[in-house]
Amino acid sequence: MTDAKKLFVKTYGCQMNVYDSDRMAEALGGAGYVTTELLDEADMVLLNTCHIREKASEKLYSDLGRLRALKAAKPGLKVGVAGCVAQAEGAEILRRSPVVDLVVGPQAYHRLPEMVKAGGRQVDTDFPVEDKFSSLPDRKVSRGPTAFLTVQEGCDKFCAFCVVPYTRGAEVSRPAARILDEARGLAAQGVREITLLGQNVNAYHGEGPHGVWGLARLLRALAEIDGLERLRYTTSHPNDMEDDLIAAHGDLPQLMPYLHLPVQSGSDRILKAMNRKHTAETYLRLIDRVRAARPDILLSSDFIAGFPGETDADFRATLDLIRTVGFGQAYSFKYSPRPGTPAAEKTPVAAEVADARLQELQALLTAQQRAVQDAMIGRDVTVLYEKPGRMPGQMIGKSDHLHAVHVGDPQGRIGQLVRVRVLASSSNSLAGGKLSENP
Ligand code: 5AD
Ligand code: SF4
Repeated sequence: MTDAKKLFVKTYGCQMNVYDSDRMAEALGGAGYVTTELLDEADMVLLNTCHIREKASEKLYSDLGRLRALKAAKPGLKVGVAGCVAQAEGAEILRRSPVVDLVVGPQAYHRLPEMVKAGGRQVDTDFPVEDKFSSLPDRKVSRGPTAFLTVQEGCDKFCAFCVVPYTRGAEVSRPAARILDEARGLAAQGVREITLLGQNVNAYHGEGPHGVWGLARLLRALAEIDGLERLRYTTSHPNDMEDDLIAAHGDLPQLMPYLHLPVQSGSDRILKAMNRKHTAETYLRLIDRVRAARPDILLSSDFIAGFPGETDADFRATLDLIRTVGFGQAYSFKYSPRPGTPAAEKTPVAAEVADARLQELQALLTAQQRAVQDAMIGRDVTVLYEKPGRMPGQMIGKSDHLHAVHVGDPQGRIGQLVRVRVLASSSNSLAGGKLSENP
């Protein structure tokens, strides 16, 4: 090979960060860096961080501690911190950790190559007027048959527990034409499934031909692209679930029957304290409408246990809501106070109470997830192969409902869509036998 410098990227947190890491790697490609999977051979290490809960940000400092030895052995090594901890803590990171050279917030990634070239220790956590997407190079590479595509960033909702409106800033949507171009480019490289990303993706309102486009309009245009067989989007807010988006779930075959719609709590008192601006009842009615449009849709959600002021009755209301809906997938978290958010000022629930509630929540959600999975046994599903399995002759892919499915198929190729009969269900995946190719 040439004398290209090696870049090692570690991504923490959400899918938005996975997408951003790829884009940063591409931008640094222009500055002569190629990515490596091997930390030891890196000339630059980029940590793309998450600030959503305390545990997520603590990981950064433990990793930086470990990088000290590497930098001592290799003084030319550059260390960059990107993402939401970079945005929230800025120059504080340089003070706390002497190994760090660059701190760059999510809105300043297009400046990374210049920062690297300029050398020295630098911080950029500005929110520029022009959005970062217009300044980043067009996306050139994709890995495999599935891809993420960021369509909107930031959030104006200000849920009382959440740092996103502070770290990612106000809601900004990318113009539809740019998204369609990027999607066409991905399809031309063999991508068959695109997941549209945004902190508040269903609030999408991008500039389109003849006026502003909502997410439903964008999905309909994406569905026209040759080769794109599957569309997904995440993460949504219940209050932005417009009629046309619900309708799209009923009549757009490419739109997969899966919806991640965080509710956070089933208690109206807590939802109010969280500044969610919806009630348990409005959420349940919304779910009814989504299910009317697409009866087999798999529902997923986020829950927080132990939000300040949560009583046992509030917590029971959350369990009731979960039993009423029946989720096929869910994420639950213990409330974690984030500096600067309104909820962080409130008296916390005792740690042991919050821990016990989280366990109860997780037990119920895991049982529901398993029941939904087990109900797939005997059914035929479509699977998009993403990688070879651990067993010889085995492929792994995702079903329409986003279940991981293991399939014995020695001739199987990555990127193939196959029909599979589900034969077994285990804790986190299904297994099945191939019926036919290219349904
Ligand atoms: N504490 C616990 N969970 C949180 N989330 C966001 N902020 C916090 C917090 N301070 C959860 C929410 C959100 C998901 C991405 O992370 O459930 O939907
Ligand atoms: Fe955070 Fe989501 Fe609420 Fe926005 S809608 S503040 S991203 S939890």
